[in-house]
Amino acid sequence: MPKIMVLNGPNLNLLGTREPETYGHETLSDVESLCRETATSLGYEIDFQQSNHEGELIDLIHQAGLLVKSGGLLGVVFNPAAYTHTSVALHDAIKGAAVPVIEVHISNVHTREAFRHHSYISSVATGVIVGMGVQGYALAIRGLVQKLKG
Ligand code: DQA
Repeated sequence: MPKIMVLNGPNLNLLGTREPETYGHETLSDVESLCRETATSLGYEIDFQQSNHEGELIDLIHQAGLLVKSGGLLGVVFNPAAYTHTSVALHDAIKGAAVPVIEVHISNVHTREAFRHHSYISSVATGVIVGMGVQGYALAIRGLVQKLKG
């Protein structure tokens, strides 16, 4: 079965207990189940990853790029968390590896602090889903498949 990678950045391992008024009560494991159910219904497998380290996220994007080239991976649903607003290196990784990425944010970053209004990822993303809660991951998987497989 072809794969979709779902990649999560720093502090998302704390989902469920971290600022629930902003991010809700679902845990990262709930998000993983949601992603697997959604992908299975579309005929895809999920490679679900989380890291608190920028370099590890970059390595995973590079691996995703090689898999996309060999036909084993459709693309990446990516919540870069705080690195969204700081990481030129992740921007360059996505561009350099030529990976189709759907950027996801659980909260609506545009209604929050000004430092969350800019994303280094959006300009190299295929699509962006913001403020739809954890359901945004399911929307992103559907969007990736629809956009790339029509
Ligand atoms: C987030 C929004 C970011 O600003 C924040 O740093 C996160 C989570 C979201 O999913 O809403 O860690 O990406």
